[in-house]
Amino acid sequence: VRRFVIVGQKATAHPDFSLDDLPATSGRLDVLLRCVQTALLVSHGLRRDAMVYLVLLGGPSAPRTIRIDGRSAEYVRPDERSIAGLARKLLAAAIDEPGFVLLAHGMSVARGGLDAVLADLAQMGAFTPYVLEEGAADLREASLDLGNPVFFLGDHLGFDPSTRARLAEIGATPLGVGPVSVHADDVVAIVWNELDRRDAANERPSYRPD
Ligand SMILES: C[S@@+](CC[C@H](N)C(=O)[O-])C[C@H]1O[C@@H](n2cnc3c(N)ncnc32)[C@H](O)[C@@H]1O
Repeated sequence: VRRFVIVGQKATAHPDFSLDDLPATSGRLDVLLRCVQTALLVSHGLRRDAMVYLVLLGGPSAPRTIRIDGRSAEYVRPDERSIAGLARKLLAAAIDEPGFVLLAHGMSVARGGLDAVLADLAQMGAFTPYVLEEGAADLREASLDLGNPVFFLGDHLGFDPSTRARLAEIGATPLGVGPVSVHADDVVAIVWNELDRRDAANERPSYRPD
């Protein structure tokens, strides 16, 4: 399973945002929702071997993390408004238990941020962490774990110092995707493109269209 973790420094963990003006009312949750689309959707299908975590560090209910598992996800559509509507429903749920609570097909929410993600990843077995950073060694030249990689990305503000320190602590390998700082969802697309190419070279289909 290929996992993407997007850390939203200001993205709201509270459902009180407007679907009509997402960027101005949600701490730029729209940036993270576009990453969901890029991480999970292909033309006419959903990548079943993908999982995405949105770490929401903004707003009165923070921190919370939304997890969407491509293996069982449904109703992920390629329009931002519908994904925002899903996120709003997920964030409105009361979460009393520790860890990720399954609320809909493939969609879970945890109280907690990066530490909740790291605990969840550890429970799922071995994984290889990578941190996407401008100026880091090129993804194209890197040797990659194609089985269980986890790619950590920042939002429009990049990473805060404590997230960067925690990622260094777990030994995340820095990777770059070229000389220009691009939007987080474009980074996800570039990473997937590299994985798709390596899968094709290995004659391994990277997703099962449905
Ligand atoms: C829009 S960028 C962040 C820009 C922010 N102003 C900053 O200075 O960090 C969002 C995220 O995408 C990733 N990213 C953007 N361009 C990248 C590149 N060329 N190589 C690797 N990661 C990149 C990083 O994880 C970054 O935190």
